[in-house]
Amino acid sequence: MTEPAKILVIFGTRPEAIKLFPVVRALEADPRFTPVVCVSAQHRQMLDQVLEIAGIVPDHDLDLMRPDQTLDGLTAALLTELGRVMDVVQPARVIVQGDTATAMAGALAAYYRKLPVDHVEAGLRSGNIYHPWPEEVNRKIIGTIASLHFAPTEVSQAALLAENVDPARVHITGNTVIDALHWVTARIAAKPALAGGLAALEARFAGKRIIGVTSHRRENFGDGMENIAEAIRQIAARPDVAVIFPVHLNPNVRSVMNAALGGLDNVALIEPLDYPHFARLLSLAEIMLTDSGGVQEEAPALGKPVLVMRETTERPEGVTAGTARLVGTDVTRIVTEIFNLLDDKAAYEAMARAHNPFGDGQSARRIVELIGDEVGQ
Ligand code: UD1
Ligand code: UDP
Repeated sequence: MTEPAKILVIFGTRPEAIKLFPVVRALEADPRFTPVVCVSAQHRQMLDQVLEIAGIVPDHDLDLMRPDQTLDGLTAALLTELGRVMDVVQPARVIVQGDTATAMAGALAAYYRKLPVDHVEAGLRSGNIYHPWPEEVNRKIIGTIASLHFAPTEVSQAALLAENVDPARVHITGNTVIDALHWVTARIAAKPALAGGLAALEARFAGKRIIGVTSHRRENFGDGMENIAEAIRQIAARPDVAVIFPVHLNPNVRSVMNAALGGLDNVALIEPLDYPHFARLLSLAEIMLTDSGGVQEEAPALGKPVLVMRETTERPEGVTAGTARLVGTDVTRIVTEIFNLLDDKAAYEAMARAHNPFGDGQSARRIVELIGDEVGQ
């Protein structure tokens, strides 16, 4: 019998962990593969929150996060250290996800060793290399290197074909975030206490209309973040509204939000939530206001209108379906759009339709089958 193929799965941030744990689980369940998990720990605490809930113990933990890390310092360390792990593990293939520095450096280090790279969540493009920055270029680099491209939707498949990627190498698999969302929803249904930690906040804001907020994009640092904070301050001035905002650990986000919003009655600035508690927040919220990629996929799947604080998106599917809207980072625009949804029932109902163009929860299984076909096992 042939030896199981060793697959090196590399990730480092919260969203990569959420979107790759279903793939790790599917590889583990398949006798054709031996998954080897390497975390860069580009994020430390926010990564560990996911590892714990998903029950994943990495084989290699590079512990690379530094406070307020720079893109070049982080990328240099990632390239060297991920390369070193590849030399030790000697995998048959490497899996990376999305568009972070970890994913890009992982793909590049693999390419330097002529190892095939399989890209989960391939083909997302905004068409603007500064929105999101540096993710648009990271994913283009990975797209140039990848052996198999796992596009979540037809839109992302089309973007790859427009860049002359061999159509035979591009597969529509759905997005593994829906696998993760289904998994966490089932876990909470079986054990509600897993998401019970918001009870005090729920009691404090009983009868109020909850707006869930997340924000972290590098291109929004500076004026963008200041504007977002001011918009939230104006929104929370309404007595019928409460804002729940788990604040990203990036100091560029926290310093602005704490200074502008700390101590406001209707605003709860809280620590990053683990995935079950964030799923609970998604269910409590009437509207999500975010610049996150993953939240743009999860909120429409749950029928929650999502206002996206960006000028472009590589996830146009939600916008096309009418469940997501781009609102940029202009204070008046954000406040006007939120008030419109709060005050115009028809406008709200038009957006609040469960719509899930991102997958059926079977993406990880599909990805593992396709890798199996590729390695001929
Ligand atoms: C990174 C990714 C971004 C992704 C986001 C998800 C890059 C260039 N950016 O952005 O694509 O959308 O993660 O959240 O890959 N920090 C902590 N603890 C943590 C996590 C972060 O303290 O658990 C702080 C540290 O000071 C760290 C800083 O946040 O230096 C920035 O982290 P970094 O991963 O460089 O950038 P993000 O903005 O989180
Ligand atoms: N998320 C979480 N806790 C939080 C905020 C977000 O678990 O406090 C999850 C969210 O459900 C989504 C992912 O983190 O799956 C999005 O991560 P983030 O916004 O950091 O990155 P992006 O998706 O923009 O790359």
